[in-house]
Amino acid sequence: MPYGSRLAAQMTRRLGRECLYTPSARLALYLALRRWCRPGARVLMSPVNDDVILFVVLAAGLRPVQAPVSLRDGNIDPAAVPESTWRNVDAVLTTNLYGVPDRVIELRRRCDELGIPLFEDAAHAIGTRVEGRPIGAFGTAAAFSLSKHVAGAAGGFLAVDGVRTRRELERLRDELLVPGRLRADLATTLRPLARSGVRALHLVRPVWRTMQRLGVLERDAFRMELHPLRLADRASRAPGLTAYEPWVRVDLHGYRSRHGALVRAQLKLRVDRLDGDLARRAVGVSLLSGTAWAAPALRERPGCDGPLPLFRAPLLVQDRDALLERLVDHGVVCGYVYDPPLDDYAGAEFVEPSPAPWAARWFAAHVLPADPLLARGITNALTREGARAAHPPTAAATAATVAPCPRVR
Ligand SMILES: Cc1ncc(COP(=O)(O)O)c(C=O)c1O
Repeated sequence: MPYGSRLAAQMTRRLGRECLYTPSARLALYLALRRWCRPGARVLMSPVNDDVILFVVLAAGLRPVQAPVSLRDGNIDPAAVPESTWRNVDAVLTTNLYGVPDRVIELRRRCDELGIPLFEDAAHAIGTRVEGRPIGAFGTAAAFSLSKHVAGAAGGFLAVDGVRTRRELERLRDELLVPGRLRADLATTLRPLARSGVRALHLVRPVWRTMQRLGVLERDAFRMELHPLRLADRASRAPGLTAYEPWVRVDLHGYRSRHGALVRAQLKLRVDRLDGDLARRAVGVSLLSGTAWAAPALRERPGCDGPLPLFRAPLLVQDRDALLERLVDHGVVCGYVYDPPLDDYAGAEFVEPSPAPWAARWFAAHVLPADPLLARGITNALTREGARAAHPPTAAATAATVAPCPRVR
């Protein structure tokens, strides 16, 4: 039986597509990029994305092309992508930022016209549907992460069409996996339990502050350090996961580990509970959507569809960074802030900058990703802190006021 096939079968049933199990979404994306893109291919993607994904694209030997994004949700704005760019890209990678869907029908149509693959990053969007179809059912391939919705500390899937393609990708995956270790597997199994224990005992604030003080957090800022000289050195050599390991593994060192039965059994239990988790998320999203801070993407959902079971609900606030710090005192640590946008972060040496970067800068600087499972606590904390809503400006006003951020080194 192929590795992880019981978990994969669960996902295949949900999605109605062939799925293979991977230890992470980043490895799933890497497999897809390697399978469908020739070396040097240009991949259109949103700059409001996890930096790890940028390094996955580089590790696959590809050129990340940054797209203009929508101020509503931070996802690619297909209408704002210049025709010259469309003619010069070889693939499109969506983000489904925080679970809010990309304009996937339009992107699918565009990719079909151009004869290029569409890759769906569904890491945040395991419960999101568009016109009745799940995110992950639209692309040439789609990557899912179990570290997100079901709070595992490992696990992912790649969804593809056809048994032959799935088997081919399983072989490529098996070549890339590194042997797991019992100690690491125990840590992977215990980490989610420790996290929920800390929350249940109201210890988030002291634990987080202690970790900050001890310097044991992997990131000091929203973006990891770029180390441009080292990165340029790697870029001059043959690409691959090993060359880009220091960047690709950040936040999940076991991203390519062949985890044993213990980890996979725990993940299976968590996936069994996924629907209950999604239902609770939808309730939280409904509450957050009614607040003054809700991003337009939350407020302007067509009525009949109901709230999406998002991974995070995007709120837009003024003085976001200070507010994030103060939320820690209320026991809320918000991750998943992708600021500055990837083109400001990495520069033109490593990515092709967006022709219209303002919306990405504005959105990345104001968004506060709220966990819908903590909706009530976050709403109370924001009210007590007197958080002020930020309203997306017009494109012209944004261009005039949003300056690029300095590159992170
Ligand atoms: C948008 C996005 N895609 C993919 C990933 C990678 O997921 P994983 O940690 O399972 O590799 C992340 C991680 O946070 C993410 O935010």
